[in-house]
Amino acid sequence: MIKPGLKYISALFLISAVLMSCRGQTTENPPIRHHFNMNFQERFNAQQENPFFEDGMAMRMPVEGTVARGNLRHDLALFEGIDDDGEYIDEIPFDLTRDFLYRGKDRYDIFCQMCHGGTGDGRGIIMTGEYGYVPAPTFHRTESYDMPAGELYSAIANGIRTMPSYATQISVEDRWAIVAYIRALQRSQNIPEEEMERYDVDLAELQQLFREEQEREEARAAAIAAAADDEVSVELGERLIVQQGCQACHSLDGSPGVGPTLAGLYGSEVTFVDGTSTIADEDYLYESIVDPGARITEGYDNVMASYAHLSESEIQSLVEFIKTLADE
Ligand code: HEC
Ligand code: HEC
Repeated sequence: MIKPGLKYISALFLISAVLMSCRGQTTENPPIRHHFNMNFQERFNAQQENPFFEDGMAMRMPVEGTVARGNLRHDLALFEGIDDDGEYIDEIPFDLTRDFLYRGKDRYDIFCQMCHGGTGDGRGIIMTGEYGYVPAPTFHRTESYDMPAGELYSAIANGIRTMPSYATQISVEDRWAIVAYIRALQRSQNIPEEEMERYDVDLAELQQLFREEQEREEARAAAIAAAADDEVSVELGERLIVQQGCQACHSLDGSPGVGPTLAGLYGSEVTFVDGTSTIADEDYLYESIVDPGARITEGYDNVMASYAHLSESEIQSLVEFIKTLADE
């Protein structure tokens, strides 16, 4: 039996709990403020008109000849990667300390690795098979080795062809740290075995890992090829042109781009940088997709990555689709 006194107390407790819990209600009334401080004052909003000034604008231009604090960027080498003649510099304007390189690695792994690959081989996760992004070139090719540091810097600061700029995400110093790390990656892929022996690594183990990775890679490619619809069709080719991002560089309607337009290509005469030329037949289209560096079309750079990882029927389908774009 509960005592009556206890009943009252628990009833009281319940009522007060209910009353105190009524806090979720909203009100249109302004909050009660004891001090207004400077919460309310006359001001102009951005882009608002202001009759006080002759030009009628509330927002003022900086005084001529002045630079806002932190915006002084007269050091071309540091901020643009070029010298006074506008040529790319080949020196990294920072001390190449261990910390600096590791900072570069840290930033590279966050911002570049998913496309350019952990070792810079252009096989980052979003480039492999199913994602179908414009392939990122490997950093281990002569063109990249010959690229001055300033050009690598510029690729991050301004973007390069179809790759966007990373200027808003990556500070000037970090951009240079990434450039330094790319240089380290490039060097890391070209160390002779005798030199490797000087380092504290198990060469045999690394080679074993490499072989295993290659085997996995081959198995994966075989699985993709087996799973792929092995019928050659114009429709598949048309789909692949979109999925593989070919249109980032090639127009289908004759307009210019990073690469030549595919409209009217089949059956036309193509001239190469070495002065030779050929009629763009099926074999040429095939070669261009599988080994685009073999013959470089005049007026263009060797920037197209190979699509040899596509299945045979996919490549044939691309060729069939490009043929439909021929001039009548
Ligand atoms: C979303 C994928 C993606 C990311 C992330 C990315 N890139 Fe790229 N990058 C590309 C593609 C695609 C190209 C080729 C563009 C073209 O040829 O039109 C490219 C080209 C380049 C090139 C020119 C290489 C050459 O040989 O012509 C450099 C240098 C480069 N990237 C550096 C970087 C750096 C440094 C980062 C990180 C800050 C980065 N990229 C992040 C996709 C990416
Ligand atoms: C990063 C830009 C880029 C992407 C992506 C790209 N290409 Fe290219 N492609 C080029 C450039 C530049 C050339 C000319 C230089 C050369 O011959 O390698 C070219 C050349 C070609 C040619 C020969 C054209 C001619 O007039 O000689 C064909 C065919 C071609 N590409 C097909 C494709 C297909 C199909 C895809 C997609 C699976 C593709 N390309 C993706 C840049 C690109």
